[in-house]
Amino acid sequence: MNDQHAMDPPATIQQHAAIEAQKRAAAKAASELVADGMYVGLGTGSTVAYLLPELAQRSLRDMRYAATSPATAHAATSLGLPVEDLDDMGGALDIAIDGADQVDPDCWLIKGGGAAHTREKVIATAARRFVVIASSDKSVAALSAPVPLEILRFGAAWTLAALAPAKLRDCPPSPDGNLIGDYLGAIGEPPILSARLSETAGVVEHGLFGPELVSDVLIAGPNGVDHRRGAKAPP
Ligand code: 5RP
Repeated sequence: MNDQHAMDPPATIQQHAAIEAQKRAAAKAASELVADGMYVGLGTGSTVAYLLPELAQRSLRDMRYAATSPATAHAATSLGLPVEDLDDMGGALDIAIDGADQVDPDCWLIKGGGAAHTREKVIATAARRFVVIASSDKSVAALSAPVPLEILRFGAAWTLAALAPAKLRDCPPSPDGNLIGDYLGAIGEPPILSARLSETAGVVEHGLFGPELVSDVLIAGPNGVDHRRGAKAPP
């Protein structure tokens, strides 16, 4: 082995660093869509973790923020971004920015890897513009399981059996006191599965997000940030 190869980091470390750089690039591009005086919804996860300091360092004025999780609320507040209850903000947001676990070519998303998908869907729906930020590994030709579920405690075993194969996740309950699980079956057509999950009693919310919720998808890759427009794109 020559000395140069002995000093090279393993490929997995290099790949991880490249993905982190892509998350940062997507987050930075999204932060530039935010302007003074906006009401902003903040998502949850490691990509959003890059967004918060980008917003903080811009010293935007007259901002109001709503967070999709206690973790994001804590991180935002510690950076000086004032977080409020969505309902105290009149319930309408100018923009929300969030990550995703998978994005397909039609802008269908899977979200909820961090178990925050219920509040994330409320914030995405309340926002006039919903911007998804992701590294290139999140872009897929077709969505695949798991699809995160937030499930009512009452009758949870029945709910899971109705959606078999599905199982509970080994994680704390949601901030709203519900159980977190995953649907593990085939996805097939996302609109059909989305309707089936929504119609199953005991499912509080699921992690399939339709294109009608999505304004923009910013996917960072090795050559820059690709900007896809969703059905809720501004004119
Ligand atoms: C949390 C989410 C996240 O947005 C999703 O899991 C992506 O997270 P990350 O940016 O860490 O890859 O839906 O519930």
